[in-house]
Amino acid sequence: MSADYERSDNGPDGMEPDGVIEGNWTEVVDSFDDMNLHELLLRGIYAYGFEKPSAIQQRAILPCIRGYDVIAQAQSGTGKTATFAISILQQLDLDVKATQALVLAPTRELALQIQKVVVALGDYLGARCYACIGGTNVRTESQKLQVDVPHIVVGTPGRVFDMLTRGILVSKAIKNFVLDEADEMLSRGFKDQIYDIFRKLPPSIQVVLLSATMPTDVLEVTKKFMRSPVRILVKKEELTLEGIRQFYIDVEKEEWKLDTLCDLYETLTITQAVIFLNTRRKVDWLTERMTAREFTVSALHGDMEQKEREIIMKEFRSGSSRVLITTDILARGIDVQQVSLVINYDLPTNRENYIHRIGRGGRFGRKGVAINMVTEDDKRSLRDIETFYNTTVEEMPSNVADLI
Ligand SMILES: Nc1ncnc2c1ncn2[C@@H]1O[C@H](COP(=O)(O)OP(=O)(O)OP(=O)(O)O)[C@@H](O)[C@H]1O
Ligand SMILES: [Mg+2]
Repeated sequence: MSADYERSDNGPDGMEPDGVIEGNWTEVVDSFDDMNLHELLLRGIYAYGFEKPSAIQQRAILPCIRGYDVIAQAQSGTGKTATFAISILQQLDLDVKATQALVLAPTRELALQIQKVVVALGDYLGARCYACIGGTNVRTESQKLQVDVPHIVVGTPGRVFDMLTRGILVSKAIKNFVLDEADEMLSRGFKDQIYDIFRKLPPSIQVVLLSATMPTDVLEVTKKFMRSPVRILVKKEELTLEGIRQFYIDVEKEEWKLDTLCDLYETLTITQAVIFLNTRRKVDWLTERMTAREFTVSALHGDMEQKEREIIMKEFRSGSSRVLITTDILARGIDVQQVSLVINYDLPTNRENYIHRIGRGGRFGRKGVAINMVTEDDKRSLRDIETFYNTTVEEMPSNVADLI
């Protein structure tokens, strides 16, 4: 990391000795009516079905609107999307035909999902929001960005950088920069791309970071490009959601996972379920095996064509497919309210993604169950997860279906 992103003026305060950062913002507003929002935005919020702001919305929307840099950490499914969407929409100047906010997300599926939320909330305002993601036609994209100039762009880093470099996405008027799943965006795979984009944005830009997890090393790097950020954070011991029951099944050997999963199939289809595996190849393999045994499942991973990915997501969101086998590509941010069961066919290789994966179920206070299949070799990793998050994962009871 070079000095050009150094613009931080924070002192050494805030970082606790054990690496858990404390919040530094206390104002809470428990009604959307009291947030001084644009009338048409307020109408969009209520029309979307929200009645009362969630805990993170009560705390983070106002500092965002006031223009502070903000780091917001709150559990999965508690409404971080609307937190930044509302604050962006409130700050827009709708008479200006220029892109004023840029939101980045780690996957195309998530960028598309966020774009839809922004469009819905900003409907009455007349805000235009465009999803700038890879795998789509560059020419149509240029047309969209240059002719219809969206007020807000939500995208994935690669395509956004490309569009900025070509001058098709113009950054001059961008005043909000939001990183959803910020810890992922600032992790090794993405960090350089994010900095490359950041350097192309106006220096006075507001930076807002959100995620359910904020490891210490990430909090450390935020000092390089954020200015005295408002921090709204929960401690890691409070991360696992009360509403999500966590279990394990002792499968002993890898070979026994498939039969175990087939035995669970009826439970999977009570509502909807997501099954996580660690590689694309294994996703294809499991999908084939399940299909051969005449279980209906669908699959999504990063080697698939964009069109296909969109169809699979659409079917899963509509409920016409109920069991989705996937990789960590869907571990973060994806919001399908009907999902109440998450299966870790493989335990995740990073502990943040454990929290994100199980958070695909039990959205916004709904019931959720997570089941971890563990072999002899996995037992230790599961114990590490329990210790790290100060939680307990019990053996799956026979009446698990009653908990869904
Ligand atoms: N104030 C609210 N009232 C009712 N429902 C809400 C409210 N805010 C958000 N929701 C709903 O809660 C669900 C989860 O929201 P969202 O996807 O923004 O969570 P998140 O905090 O971003 O979770 P994750 O960490 O998994 O990304 C969505 O279906 C959303 O519509
Ligand atoms: Mg989210």
